[in-house]
Amino acid sequence: MTTATLLPQQPTRRDVLMIATGAVAAAGAAAVAWPLLAQLTPDASTVAAGFPLEVDLAPMVVGQVIKVFWRGQPIFISHRTAHEIESAQTADWQSLRDPEPDSARVKPGHEQWLVVSAICTHLGCIPTEHQGNYDGWFCQCHGSQYDSSGRARLGPAPRNLPLVPYEFISDAKIRIGSAG
Ligand code: FES
Repeated sequence: MTTATLLPQQPTRRDVLMIATGAVAAAGAAAVAWPLLAQLTPDASTVAAGFPLEVDLAPMVVGQVIKVFWRGQPIFISHRTAHEIESAQTADWQSLRDPEPDSARVKPGHEQWLVVSAICTHLGCIPTEHQGNYDGWFCQCHGSQYDSSGRARLGPAPRNLPLVPYEFISDAKIRIGSAG
């Protein structure tokens, strides 16, 4: 009787090239993202202590979504387009699984800004912005979709993306961690 011996597969030259290319791409993306994050985030000890986090919104263009970290948690800040605002305001919110009008999720006079937790209310993945059917977020883990107000619209997510406390300290600057 013969016994088949399974040898560990050696990576081919092509595999090595693919891995190297991926690593270079990741490093490039990190290098691009770093200046913005460095500008937006305080030092590590401040974050760890959970002190309020000030974010300068001036560099953000319309339609841009960024992620910042406060108390170790990712937070989405969305600079909503006119279309995103309109669809969020005109949605039949009473029929949603977690009914909330858009006006309860933004600050009066600052409707272009949405600031919410970036943690999917299903099982905690981080959804991807500008994907899905509702101008909002799509969670690739199990297919939940959120609209441009961060409200759960499709898939297993039971609740809207949670609001976080923040206030405007000027027209283009917010402080996360203190309610206004
Ligand atoms: Fe987002 Fe399951 S964790 S859909």
